Amino acid sequence: VHPHRVFSGIQPTGVPHLGNYLGALENWVALQNQYPTVLYSIVDLHSITQPQDPMQLRSNILDLTASLLACGIDPEKAVLFQQSQVSEHAELSWILGCMTSMPRLRHLPQWKMKSKQKSEGSVGLFTYPVLQAADILLYQSTHVPVGEDQVQHLELAQDLARIFNNRYGDLFPEPRTLLSSTRKVKSLRDPSAKMSKSDPQTMATITITDSPEDIALKIRRAVTDFTSEVTFDPETRPGVSNLLLIHAAMAAISVEDAVSQARGLDTGAYKKLVSEAVIQRLAPIRQEIGKLRAEPAYLQGLLAQGRVKARELAAPVLAEVRHRVGF
Ligand code: ADP
Ligand code: NA
Repeated sequence: VHPHRVFSGIQPTGVPHLGNYLGALENWVALQNQYPTVLYSIVDLHSITQPQDPMQLRSNILDLTASLLACGIDPEKAVLFQQSQVSEHAELSWILGCMTSMPRLRHLPQWKMKSKQKSEGSVGLFTYPVLQAADILLYQSTHVPVGEDQVQHLELAQDLARIFNNRYGDLFPEPRTLLSSTRKVKSLRDPSAKMSKSDPQTMATITITDSPEDIALKIRRAVTDFTSEVTFDPETRPGVSNLLLIHAAMAAISVEDAVSQARGLDTGAYKKLVSEAVIQRLAPIRQEIGKLRAEPAYLQGLLAQGRVKARELAAPVLAEVRHRVGF
């Protein structure tokens, strides 16, 4: 088994927002320099667990590809590929699904939550964590950067590695969680909730391609509180504290430094400072996304290269799985 392999996936639901960028993608960029083998997958199979418009999905996949590159994912350092182009994911998912009990899946939090919202979830939504386990195990991954909300899904991948190894002999390392970061970006409209692309309120979320005008407007409208002085206290002042965290992260300074820059400013004036930091940091990323997005054939070519590299790693593992299962 290989010493260290990192795998992570992101759904092609459009251009990433500030939470995705600070909570996941920045860390992805760091990891590609720290580990010998790193795979980042645009998990389009996962995204069709909810109905998708085909044109929109195709466009979202290229938006995300351009975004990942612009944020610093380097296809020479990380294998960047589209999940559905490597059919081994679906095949391993079936095999692992046959080793997973229904009650095990029924107890996972995301199913409980999403099936409640939808009243009737699809079979795909139900077995989604099995596909996630397959994504990880297919590359004999050892490390998986995930957000806290995904920890229980990673436990399933660990269980399935153990179950497979017990039944058929050691093949899969038990993947370990690399908690991406404890940085949580909050909704600008409701700082008790996290910033999320599923938030229907557009003013709550900053995407990495927002114009400087939109960024300034959204931050100006950000919910804070009735104290005009700027202090860091996430418990009692989540709105202002969220701005301080965003400011610090985007300007690459400590929260203490952000607080000292805010000294003497009221929240209104401080918001301008935060806007400037966000606008400045995102400007080159936004420009690069625009440039890349104008060359869809180039992006598709990169994904095709990623597919070849991913399959080189996946094919021998799946061949071994098939052999052990008795195919
Ligand atoms: P969303 O909640 O917008 O649907 P995803 O669940 O697709 O985002 O998350 C993709 C990645 O971005 C995950 O690693 C997740 O932990 C991270 N992430 C999402 N929202 C935030 C946030 N508000 N703050 C920090 N990280 C986040
Ligand atoms: Na690397």
